[in-house]
Amino acid sequence: MTIQERIDSAAEAVRARTGATPELGLILGSGLGDFCDRLENQTVIPFSDLPGFPLPTVEGHEGALVLGTCRGRAVAALRGRVHYYEGYAQQEITIPVRVMAKLGVRTLVLTNAAGGVNLNFQPGNLMLISDHINLSGANPLIGPNLDAFGPRFPDMSDVYTKALRERLRPLAAQAGIPLREGVYVMYSGPSYETPAEIRCFRAMGGDAVGMSTVPEAIVARHAGLQVMGVSCITNMAAGILPQPLSHAEVVETAARVKQDFTRLLELMVDIG
Ligand code: HPA
Repeated sequence: MTIQERIDSAAEAVRARTGATPELGLILGSGLGDFCDRLENQTVIPFSDLPGFPLPTVEGHEGALVLGTCRGRAVAALRGRVHYYEGYAQQEITIPVRVMAKLGVRTLVLTNAAGGVNLNFQPGNLMLISDHINLSGANPLIGPNLDAFGPRFPDMSDVYTKALRERLRPLAAQAGIPLREGVYVMYSGPSYETPAEIRCFRAMGGDAVGMSTVPEAIVARHAGLQVMGVSCITNMAAGILPQPLSHAEVVETAARVKQDFTRLLELMVDIG
């Protein structure tokens, strides 16, 4: 099947299960998937029931598309996502974003766990993504352009919709949620970065580093969606603290900030 055929068949399979017409899409990263439980009138569709969907291979990234409502809005949420480092092409890992676009989603909220590159950050901080640097070594739009979604050479000068960030900041402040803002660097993984790479990313203007989000954001913008992104800074990036990085630390920190993170997501749903 071509990528377009995979998108079409997955969208068909969703429509066969529910008449839901989501307007907002959510992609929930490492340890952040519990937000799906808050959706009302849920329809849960395991990725394995969606022909054409790439299947996660990583523990802790159980995969399901959950459709429901949140604060009165029709939402489609991905509990778990597929990463580039799992061996899929970026054209494949972004199929779910295009399926959401086909179902009617107009705004996409992307979340991830990330390492802090900015020395002023601390584990547990939430960072609104203002822009990204794609150091993944690939681009999800390589290959035949899918004209049904967007142009061959899409503009990327406002990927993380500035107007939405401006609306979110005062709402987060009012809710007492400390919010950092900065540039997310995508590195392929699955090995964490070296201290030299992290110094390089900082010199380039990066504030956080992670292994996801950028392909989804590019494909969403290609399709004309508005995008918001938030990183949970789960650890300081390599070489900053005198300790090795571990996935356990990532999962523990994500669990610790769950309350603020959930509240922030609700605000994003309100404005998205
Ligand atoms: N590097 C890359 N990805 C990550 C990190 C990190 O330090 N923390 C969580 N995801």
